[in-house]
Amino acid sequence: MSNRSLVSISDYNKEEILEILDAAADFEANPNRSTLKGKVIATLFFEPSTRTRLSFETAVLRLGGSVIGFSDAATSSSVKGETLNDTIRMVSCYADAIVMRHPFEGAARYAAEISPVPIINAGDGANQHPSQTLLDLYSILKTQGTLDNLKICVAGDLKYGRTVHSLIMAMSYFHPSFRFIAPEELKLNEEYRIFCLRNNIPFEETTELNENINDADILYMTRVQRERFQDLMEYERVKNVYTLKNSMLENTKPNLRILHPLPRVAEISPDVDKNEKAYYFQQAQNGLYIRQAIISKVLSI
Ligand code: CP
Repeated sequence: MSNRSLVSISDYNKEEILEILDAAADFEANPNRSTLKGKVIATLFFEPSTRTRLSFETAVLRLGGSVIGFSDAATSSSVKGETLNDTIRMVSCYADAIVMRHPFEGAARYAAEISPVPIINAGDGANQHPSQTLLDLYSILKTQGTLDNLKICVAGDLKYGRTVHSLIMAMSYFHPSFRFIAPEELKLNEEYRIFCLRNNIPFEETTELNENINDADILYMTRVQRERFQDLMEYERVKNVYTLKNSMLENTKPNLRILHPLPRVAEISPDVDKNEKAYYFQQAQNGLYIRQAIISKVLSI
């Protein structure tokens, strides 16, 4: 693997994470530069995206670079049977770095192992979404003034939600305590519960959302990931398991902020949007600055 790739959040240590957050603050103060002039970044999205692709592309354009790629794999030669290996080898002939989203867990690691240019994982199946996690951390830092010793409630699809998996790993540096809120069918995978135990991260698990958010500093809501279900009947049973409503926020802490990687479906009622504790749209905007920082880091600029 090129050691400049970002495949898993565990590819960055605590110092590198803090370095990215610092750089993002600089980019937020001054997002328009020409540091990527002459550079070409490829965005290869084998799965749909709004925020991740557009914010990566905006990040490049605002730094003076150029973008190539596809937003729909059906327009690429993968539909003719071209392998991921060949696609990556070809695109790396044209681009200085590749941002890739793929439905298969491990696809980004595989790409990084064969690519001569850095790979940035924009989500691989239910596995990892490290750039989302860095923008989540930046959002937590901006709203709480610290990353340390926070109570974080994570609710929804903890089984398939890749942003949850990356977030747990990244927060392990900052002494969090977690409350995982999910129905039985969408409980956090054993792998991440073991990760918490090994890293002395206290956590509780519950199936109830209401009554379990009043002591939280961060409430991280997630969408039930329809595209990961083998059995759509099971999806139908759990799809509306939680809906956060404005009335449920009455007794929450003043510093509580509600995050969501978006897109949302039904898990946050629109009546929450006007509450000052709703932060998910600003969170998505923060993605632009974080992605400017990530691209600059992988290209050593
Ligand atoms: N948060 C996120 O990954 O959103 P998109 O699927 O729109 O990129």
